[in-house]
Amino acid sequence: MNNNYKLAIVGATGLVGQTVLKVLEERNLPISEYVLFASEKSADKNITFMNKTYTIRKLTESSFDEGFDFAIFVAGGEISIKYAPIAVSKGCVVIDNSSAFRMDKNVPLVVPEINPDDIEWNQGIIANPNCSTIQAVVPLNVLDQKYKIKRIVYSTYQAVSGAGQNGVEDLKNGIKGTPTTKKFPHPIFNNCLPHIDVFLENGYSKEEMKMINETRKILHNDKLLITATTVRVPVMNCHSESINVEFENDFDINELKQTLANSSGIVLQDDPTNNVYPLATLANDHNEIFVGRIRRDYSVKHGINMWVVADNIRKGAATNAIQILEKLIK
Ligand SMILES: NC(=O)c1ccc[n+]([C@@H]2O[C@H](COP(=O)([O-])OP(=O)(O)OC[C@H]3O[C@@H](n4cnc5c(N)ncnc54)[C@H](OP(=O)(O)O)[C@@H]3O)[C@@H](O)[C@H]2O)c1
Repeated sequence: MNNNYKLAIVGATGLVGQTVLKVLEERNLPISEYVLFASEKSADKNITFMNKTYTIRKLTESSFDEGFDFAIFVAGGEISIKYAPIAVSKGCVVIDNSSAFRMDKNVPLVVPEINPDDIEWNQGIIANPNCSTIQAVVPLNVLDQKYKIKRIVYSTYQAVSGAGQNGVEDLKNGIKGTPTTKKFPHPIFNNCLPHIDVFLENGYSKEEMKMINETRKILHNDKLLITATTVRVPVMNCHSESINVEFENDFDINELKQTLANSSGIVLQDDPTNNVYPLATLANDHNEIFVGRIRRDYSVKHGINMWVVADNIRKGAATNAIQILEKLIK
């Protein structure tokens, strides 16, 4: 195996970028050279990574001229749209965390536990799904394989870290009693905002449509019936989701729980009588997806409700991107 891969991280100073560096430190990837990029604001700042000091470089149109094997983009859609094609034109394979290319027919949208083979048809860019989608589709795929999903209803309770550094600042300021907002249209402290990303003509928010369309693409099922309501809540980190699922086939509830418990990347936390169920504070800083409160939905023939929690910055972004990188290297 080549041990001399060169990796660029674009947006290395952001919430996801910092976690990308943390996850890279935890894993043993055969990478010999790292270059960290951000905007002019952070250029020339020093960051300690892998026990070495790295100086942040300003991203420019010539940044990729020196040649990279791979780049992880975590700097937002506009940066990805402008610079990812430049990186690809210089022979670099890009793993993009923004929503810019996710629904592009020529770009695979990958969750390694589900559709790792899609990586093979990449044309230079591989998209990392939205954080709220990733944590939902991992358990859903397991259940789809066994019981065939007919319909999904998503209701999310999403942490402020999902909106980047400014989202976190808004909640911190709210806690301090400062009502100013940098990111959200209303104070997030003491509020639940049924508004994530922009609203579209069909009345849904873009986040809701991302969950619907990305789920279909990852599960390779364009016809899957899905609806979603996405809500920002005053939680610092980790998204929680109530997922209602209707199946074609009948199931035994204990067998269904055991199937989830035995699946890669999933931890079953389902003992409500002892107050055991997934919590944001427990999922924080973990790579796994936590599933619990699994119960039959008696309003339909074959359905369940479940509660799914994961660290949106780890499995929802950084960890998933690095799992894709690991597959690419293999
Ligand atoms: N937060 C999540 O849960 C999550 C989950 C999945 C996907 N994502 C996606 O990941 C991306 C980053 O999100 P985040 O939460 O980490 O945001 P963030 O905390 O706001 O960080 C943004 C990063 O982008 C850099 N950047 C901004 N303008 C730039 C420019 N002109 N050139 C180069 N770098 C630039 C910033 O550098 P400076 O320090 O110089 O400003 C910073 O490193 C977004 O596309 C987001 O949608 C986020």
